[in-house]
Amino acid sequence: MKSVKSERLELLANIASQLCDKQALKKIVLSKPDQTDVLKSVISPIMLSGEYSLQIETFSKDNKAFHHNLRENFEKELLSIFYDYSQINLISTLGECQFMRSKGGKESLIGEKKLINKLSGANVEKAELSGNNKEKNHILSGKEDFLKKLGISDETGRIRDKMQAKYRQINKFLEHIESIRDKLPENNINIYDLCCGKSYLSFAVYHYFKHILKKNIKMVCIDLKKDVIEYCNQVATRLGFVEMEFVCMDINKYEMKDKPHLVISLHACDIATDIVLDKASTNGAEVILSTPCCHHELNHSLNCPALDFVARHSMLRQKMCDALTDSLRLMKLEAQGYRVDALELIDPEDTPKNIMLRAIKKKNTSKAQLDELMRKYEDTKAFLLGTKE
Ligand SMILES: C[S@@+](CC[C@H](N)C(=O)[O-])C[C@H]1O[C@@H](n2cnc3c(N)ncnc32)[C@H](O)[C@@H]1O
Repeated sequence: MKSVKSERLELLANIASQLCDKQALKKIVLSKPDQTDVLKSVISPIMLSGEYSLQIETFSKDNKAFHHNLRENFEKELLSIFYDYSQINLISTLGECQFMRSKGGKESLIGEKKLINKLSGANVEKAELSGNNKEKNHILSGKEDFLKKLGISDETGRIRDKMQAKYRQINKFLEHIESIRDKLPENNINIYDLCCGKSYLSFAVYHYFKHILKKNIKMVCIDLKKDVIEYCNQVATRLGFVEMEFVCMDINKYEMKDKPHLVISLHACDIATDIVLDKASTNGAEVILSTPCCHHELNHSLNCPALDFVARHSMLRQKMCDALTDSLRLMKLEAQGYRVDALELIDPEDTPKNIMLRAIKKKNTSKAQLDELMRKYEDTKAFLLGTKE
């Protein structure tokens, strides 16, 4: 944010945020940007996973469009965007308002008083949301160069039929990353993708931070498969994604050089997810986002008579073991100082492997609390494995 404060921009951000609260905002058009490679930005309200959000579309002078979404802290986030433009037109169901800054730095705001008056009225008409168009909701539109080079979209930007599910997965994963952005450092972010495979997600995450958010990042992606890692290295070179490193190694043996801020993992098979979570938590990752793959271990080792009424039906046994495995993983992370959630990654019709485990490092948990949580975790594990004394 700029160091010189602008009362008019602060007021405008406040009005915009109030309009969002009443869902009366139609759009905000930002022109005359400070950045010479940007043409303009348009901010429109959309629904993302049932949540009122704002989509920011930034158009560059070379005809490219970048999207990112805001889900919360509208006033603060909008204000930091507003500072980068000299003309802002806010359009709502209650009327319009315009901010202008002259070359000499003189600022004016027109139409704000009428809007403030109308905002206090009882009946505020809601604006239509542009989020009914599913394509628009996505952080990646399909037209991005790297998606074409990876074969996810064709030359026109249309998503190839075979890649539709992968495209939706990585877009949803990016939305999850977007929702934890404020838990990461403002800049110079260290990201690890453990068990990256062909790295569609890694490339998308790199693009999101580097090209959409314009952050400095260092990204390390690790997988056991030599040919896949060689291929990813070549793709990264071709794309000019220079801050990406691909390492062929067992993640168990890998020593993280930089403190991880974000650790991601998509469909690391069976116990590989447990290795991912341990590696991330013991290295003090700020945020861990992991969508596990198939689980087998607990299904083989479950020894819990109290659950036999479920376990005797093989289909239900597998589903129960899946849920128990993920719950145990979350318990362990909690005992390592994380706030945890199990979320849905994507529509279950796309893949049954759609649970996203999210862990965010807590600032102040006492050793006694953590010890108690670890005791509960060990107790629960022993209950399920039949090793409880
Ligand atoms: C199902 S693939 C998922 C790949 C990628 N994340 C994706 O979603 O497309 C699982 C990957 O985990 C890798 N993997 C499994 N165990 C591993 C380990 N211990 N260390 C490194 N990679 C591992 C495999 O080689 C494989 O590429």
